[in-house]
Amino acid sequence: MTYDVHKIRSHFPSLNTGLAFFDGPGGSQVPLAVGTAIAQAITKPISNRNTITESEKNAEEYVLGFREAVADLIDVDARGVVYGRSWTQLSYDFSRTLAKNWGPGDEIVVSRLDHDSNIRPWIQAAQAVGATVRWAEMDLETTEVTVESVEAVLTPNTKLVAITGAGNTLGTRPDLKAIGVAVHKVGAMFFVDGVHLTPHAVVSVKDIGADFFGFSFYKLMGPHCAALAASPALLEKLSNDKLLPSTNAVPERFEFGTLPYELMAGCIAAVDFIADIAPGNGVTRREKIVNSMNALEKYEEELLEYLESSVASLPGVTLYGHAKHRTPTIYFSFAGHNSVDIYKAMGLKSVTLPASNFYALEVSRALGLGDAGALRAGLAPYTTKEDVDRLIAGLKEILG
Ligand SMILES: Cc1ncc(COP(=O)(O)O)c(C=O)c1O
Repeated sequence: MTYDVHKIRSHFPSLNTGLAFFDGPGGSQVPLAVGTAIAQAITKPISNRNTITESEKNAEEYVLGFREAVADLIDVDARGVVYGRSWTQLSYDFSRTLAKNWGPGDEIVVSRLDHDSNIRPWIQAAQAVGATVRWAEMDLETTEVTVESVEAVLTPNTKLVAITGAGNTLGTRPDLKAIGVAVHKVGAMFFVDGVHLTPHAVVSVKDIGADFFGFSFYKLMGPHCAALAASPALLEKLSNDKLLPSTNAVPERFEFGTLPYELMAGCIAAVDFIADIAPGNGVTRREKIVNSMNALEKYEEELLEYLESSVASLPGVTLYGHAKHRTPTIYFSFAGHNSVDIYKAMGLKSVTLPASNFYALEVSRALGLGDAGALRAGLAPYTTKEDVDRLIAGLKEILG
């Protein structure tokens, strides 16, 4: 089934403004169906989750529907899906919970490629209990974090390895499956930040073999919230701090306070939207998602080639991402030009091309970009070749 970008674009009211969006890795635009689902959920009869009245049943349906939608999107058991306000919040919560079982002599591994939300919570949790932090380094030439670079810091004392599914500035996609095998060989747990990977690839957590995997819905056309998945059996084994009257059931005991049913409705609509992008001959929602994401991946791959070769031809450019397997995200700067000035000048041309470290602070520092970072252009399901042409024309004018 062919990928019809113009049909997809017709679902996004924000695209009518004429802005060209290259800030997808920071948060995508949202189709009308997601906004409608949120509005309908919050205005129909709704009470606290239960099964007695119609309003209670509505809330119950959104919660269970949310877990099913996540299960279909990333191929996990719906009973192990935990809702979170953001991925950062989930990382913090789970780092503190897991650290309860660590102490001096134990080791955890973080990677130089990651967004800070999959680094700092682990470092701080390890420090609080006297555990040691080790770094899986990124090769500065290839911008890869290889299985060998992870193996180099694994020991029989390793308790957990936290690594990203894809770097949110460089786009690097580590070989998660191979890394997972190495991590499990030493008996450690494998915690994967799927925030930048999930919007661009077919994800099967079962295939990857991650113990924990999570992502944020606002990066894939949904509302501002996140999800973490683990096997229900693993969640049962973890003991976390919680209120006394709240349930001890899994996954609920990891979700604090009353759940935002309307956002969950928005998440369900976002997953349904993804399933309908290019469903092919898929019958189940999972099959449709796989077909759609395959079609999207192919579309984004071709457009990335065009974007990258066009940017590479501009004077004084440095492109920083060189990994073999990458998401459609490029990170770059121009000699003699301040990236933030370019960001502002492009904004005046209605092209969103932000410049920052984007919280991948370790990457920015390792590449010699300090804390300022560089420009980032990311593709999204609604990006067109015409958008790329506007980006290139704008940059040419600014560079002179
Ligand atoms: C790879 C990656 N991880 C984590 C995050 C943080 O996600 P959240 O805003 O949901 O905390 C981001 C956001 O930019 C990201 O790109």
